[in-house]
Amino acid sequence: MLQTTDFQSKEQTNLKTSDPEIYGWIQKEEKRQIHGLELIASENYVSRSVMEAQGSILTNKYAEGYPGKRYYGGCEFVDEIESIAIQRACDLFGVEHANVQPHSGSQANMAVYMAALKLGDKVLGMDLSNGGHLTHGSSVNFSGKLYEFLSYGLNSKTHRLDYDQVRDVAKKENPKLIIAGYSAYPRELDFKLFKEIADEVGAELLVDMSHFAGLVVGGVHPSPAPYADYITTTTHKTLRGPRGGMILTSAEKAKKLNSQIFPGIQGGPMEHTIGAKAVAFKEAQAPSFKTYAEQIVKNAQALSSSLLDNGFDLVTGGTDNHLLLVDLTSLGDLTGKVAEKVLDQAHITVNKNTVPNETRSPFVTSGIRLGTPALTTRGFKENDMIEVGQWISDVLKTPTDTVINKVKSQVMDKTQNFPLPS
Ligand SMILES: Cc1ncc(COP(=O)(O)O)c(C=O)c1O
Repeated sequence: MLQTTDFQSKEQTNLKTSDPEIYGWIQKEEKRQIHGLELIASENYVSRSVMEAQGSILTNKYAEGYPGKRYYGGCEFVDEIESIAIQRACDLFGVEHANVQPHSGSQANMAVYMAALKLGDKVLGMDLSNGGHLTHGSSVNFSGKLYEFLSYGLNSKTHRLDYDQVRDVAKKENPKLIIAGYSAYPRELDFKLFKEIADEVGAELLVDMSHFAGLVVGGVHPSPAPYADYITTTTHKTLRGPRGGMILTSAEKAKKLNSQIFPGIQGGPMEHTIGAKAVAFKEAQAPSFKTYAEQIVKNAQALSSSLLDNGFDLVTGGTDNHLLLVDLTSLGDLTGKVAEKVLDQAHITVNKNTVPNETRSPFVTSGIRLGTPALTTRGFKENDMIEVGQWISDVLKTPTDTVINKVKSQVMDKTQNFPLPS
């Protein structure tokens, strides 16, 4: 008998009766999460405590403004909650000020741009096709429409970030802001060097640590705190909190920054999410989170070796963090899009991703991105990841129904022994 899906539905008896349609889809999604291997690098499984805070009555409260300075009555308890979230965030990352209100990572970045720049100013960020994020200057995103974005990329041989290129473009273009941070890059960043370059050209430095914030907390990735003028992050990736964003900065910049979130780009803060962020920050302060972060990296490295042993090419040859990029070019016709689809059929969830010197469109791509934060939360260790690498290899090398079905049943057996957090 496969693991039941009742762990969540037990508490959804009202929904089951009042809206069976949505209840039914939630059940299906729950089953998918339980019986699949989640390898999307930006996803994770939050604890029941985080979900309880997120699903609490805090969702009913309007609280425009900040603790002690609200535009609504009745904020005395949410003030306490938001103040605790702020203090925990400051303690976790060793910074003077935290704004925990951004509804998402994108809004955190938008607020920093509005605080640090005038419309049309130059910003230097990582090229999207080399691992940067949409909000780092994509022409279809507000960032690329409102500011003049310039980009740096990777060294053409090593495919590691090219700091000489960062410096060259910075010196030539004099951006007001330099962004360090990525959505798909498997190596550590050198924040000291980024800061030196920013200082050389009189720019401010934003570190978008959305992907690796949890690794910073766990001490397995250098911290940007000593170098960055602003730090943005999502709270739902390696940090393992609810879906949302956060900005960290100095006491000096706090007032200007806060006013860009509210009243600048957001209305009422989501106090239920802020409560859940506070809960996640407390979890991240526990010694066990350090062990978790260490295991994320060990697992990514084990998955890398498994894929390398099976003859796959990895961008930069491996990983220092929670993610790896598999370059499928040598497999000929197998695109990232097809790889994503066939793995999905075997209950292994990944996303297609561009690789350096990409020749295909971003909707097709020649690579896939894999990450270990979610499986590590479920308790996977190095040996389990080696097995996962073998299954990925089996499916990608022989994507027939027979192989896909065989791997799918192996995955379903495996997931029975690794329940979601309860
Ligand atoms: C580096 C980086 N910044 C910002 C974001 C945006 O976060 P959100 O999806 O919460 O808007 C992401 C999300 O993937 C990201 O990877």
